[in-house]
Amino acid sequence: MSLGFESLVSLVSASWKNLTVRVQEYTKETVEHLIVAVSVYIIVCVFLYLSISRWKIIHFKKDVKNPHRVLLVIAHPDDECMFFGPTVLNFTKQNQCKVFLMCLSTGQNYGLGKTRKQELYKSCRMLGIDDSCITVCNHTNLPDQMGAKWPIELVAKLILNHVETYSIDTLVTFDKHGVSYHLNHCSIYYAIAHLSIEKKLPKECSVYVLETVNLLRKYWLLLDIPVSFLLSRIRYLVTSADRAIIHKAMKQHQSQLVWFRRLYMLFSRYMLINSLQLMELSDIELDLEIDD
Ligand SMILES: *[C@@H]1O[C@H](CO)[C@@H](O)[C@H](O)[C@H]1NC(C)=O
Ligand SMILES: *[C@@H]1O[C@H](CO)[C@@H](O)[C@H](O)[C@H]1NC(C)=O
Repeated sequence: MSLGFESLVSLVSASWKNLTVRVQEYTKETVEHLIVAVSVYIIVCVFLYLSISRWKIIHFKKDVKNPHRVLLVIAHPDDECMFFGPTVLNFTKQNQCKVFLMCLSTGQNYGLGKTRKQELYKSCRMLGIDDSCITVCNHTNLPDQMGAKWPIELVAKLILNHVETYSIDTLVTFDKHGVSYHLNHCSIYYAIAHLSIEKKLPKECSVYVLETVNLLRKYWLLLDIPVSFLLSRIRYLVTSADRAIIHKAMKQHQSQLVWFRRLYMLFSRYMLINSLQLMELSDIELDLEIDD
């Protein structure tokens, strides 16, 4: 009897040992595979980055069609380099292209309107946008607030006025998620969507919106290159020299350089890659239907 019990115990303990050894081996193997996969992915990303931006052996084919007079519409001073840096630099470097900037608020939220306006001018100089091409609105109905939906008619009117005054042929702004779901950003998209639907924009004016990516992709930096490559048709990737220019521009926004923005500067893919979408009437109609 006692012998049987002992042998049972030893049997159980032996198979337990066996099991734990197997689990350990399996875990080790899995971790090894993961490490290999992640390393390969990182190497591919770095290789892609160098191929595109340094060696120039891979080309992003689709480009924004012949931009001559571009208007970038943003909500706050610093949006131009926090989100649109790669796009702006690509445009300002093309000789035939003139870039206008319209900022719909002074960023009064922190009581720093005047300072922030000056910082915007300094930052734009770094990015190659002329002082004379910058307009900063200071409208009581367009407050700098995360939760404030701006009146669409007013925003639309201001933008249309600008498009007509400066004969704009390419309009660039946020998409409906506004990069960070900030309602000020989204309002600009909806205002332009309405202009488009009501066919108020001049025929020759195309609208491009900056694609919002999910949180993981947002802080993936280089690692987002393959994904952007696969999913987006219009993309801008900056060289390391241009990335330094965007950082310099961001540093002009002294009043905004708190620790989390410094982290953002290091890890955000928007400081390295922009992917844009041409705004099509059919897409907007669908968006507006869903949101109504
Ligand atoms: C602008 O971007 C396009 C497409 O990504 C690229 O082919 C072109 O070389 C870029 N131009 C400049 C001046 O960086
Ligand atoms: C914006 O307008 C308000 C009053 O409407 C004024 O107090 C403020 O100084 C203005 N800000 C700038 C940056 O001009």
